[in-house]
Amino acid sequence: MKALFSEIKLKNLKIKNRVVMPPMVIFKHVTADGLITKEHIAHYEERAKAGVGLIIVEAVCVNKEGRLAPRQLGLWSDAFIDGLQEIPKVCHKYGAKVLIQLHHAGAKTPPSVCSDSVCPSSFETLRSPDAPSVQARALTLSEIHNLQNDFVDAAIRAKEAGFDGIELHGAHGYLINQFFSPLINKRKDLYGGSLVNRARFAVEIITEIKQVVGNEFIIGCRMGCNEPDLQTSIALAKLLENAGVQLLHISFGSGPSLNFSSPSLIAACPDFDYSWVVHGGVEMKMHLKVPVIVVFGIRKPEEADALIENNLADFTAVGKGLLVDPDWAEKAQKGGVIAFCRSCKKCLWFQSEDLCPARRAVNS
Ligand SMILES: Cc1cc2nc3c(=O)[nH]c(=O)nc-3n(C[C@H](O)[C@H](O)[C@H](O)COP(=O)(O)O)c2cc1C
Repeated sequence: MKALFSEIKLKNLKIKNRVVMPPMVIFKHVTADGLITKEHIAHYEERAKAGVGLIIVEAVCVNKEGRLAPRQLGLWSDAFIDGLQEIPKVCHKYGAKVLIQLHHAGAKTPPSVCSDSVCPSSFETLRSPDAPSVQARALTLSEIHNLQNDFVDAAIRAKEAGFDGIELHGAHGYLINQFFSPLINKRKDLYGGSLVNRARFAVEIITEIKQVVGNEFIIGCRMGCNEPDLQTSIALAKLLENAGVQLLHISFGSGPSLNFSSPSLIAACPDFDYSWVVHGGVEMKMHLKVPVIVVFGIRKPEEADALIENNLADFTAVGKGLLVDPDWAEKAQKGGVIAFCRSCKKCLWFQSEDLCPARRAVNS
């Protein structure tokens, strides 16, 4: 596990190993006002204590009207700084570095949060006969600028709270992803149409954050490797890189109905023993200068180590693996029996670790 546990520098920030805890919302720990609780702090502390090198705290919303669920952590006012600062404080004690993910759900904001959800251009889809339809109206130009300011203000608050940087959530069909996607963004002005225009919403946010937070604060972005195809995603990533992101986290983008998008857009590679999302991240890394995090389905330490050892990725994110076994990183480094995620997805759909058979086995 030498490669996986080798140090790396992100600008001047030393990260002790390549194990990343990717952002994962835990609604049950959030108060009705979007504030953090002590259970939340303990959740992150436990993973930091057990050796994770880089923690990316779950999606926090930059605007109350753009939450993805009624109980999501907020960062839309200074009132959140006091609570959130506890996370970097406890994690830094164990040598972990900590970013926080900035998010707005856009058209994916549910009616239980806001009856006037927004999208780059007006959007309507009936997902399936049993799933609710999604409807959103087009943003005006001044609303676009206000939302960009919301992201910048949230980044300033994150810095005040002691985080080492932020990650913009530009994947999984949420607002920034809606701007990126030619399947969703049908605007006819400077924020839609060409790739440069579709990237503009994020590029301007990155440029502005860079100006106000200084050079030491890390700016990352999560994006899809299929936006809508690999080549376009690479071109988009280069635009983000030129704007000043120092870290790219490659996940999946959005399909036409804002759902989990199709893997078929990444060429099949029978000899590559990882998910199509990791495959997309590896392909993208070959064309980029900034460090790349790959994610999706990485379960075993040997799988993660081989990605780093062969220079296919700079970081490996282990999501559900770290929910099931908080000691994943420590056991990977020092030995020990890891309880592996069995992909039941109960943590995702029901937001409950108690229902997860692998997690239950760890606790018994
Ligand atoms: C409970 C749960 C919550 C998640 N919340 C977020 C989130 O806040 N932001 C995000 O970008 N991805 C989120 N994800 C996706 C994960 O970051 C990760 O990409 C995904 O779980 C795939 O990695 P894995 O196979 O290692 O679990 C979430 C996943 C789970 C299981």
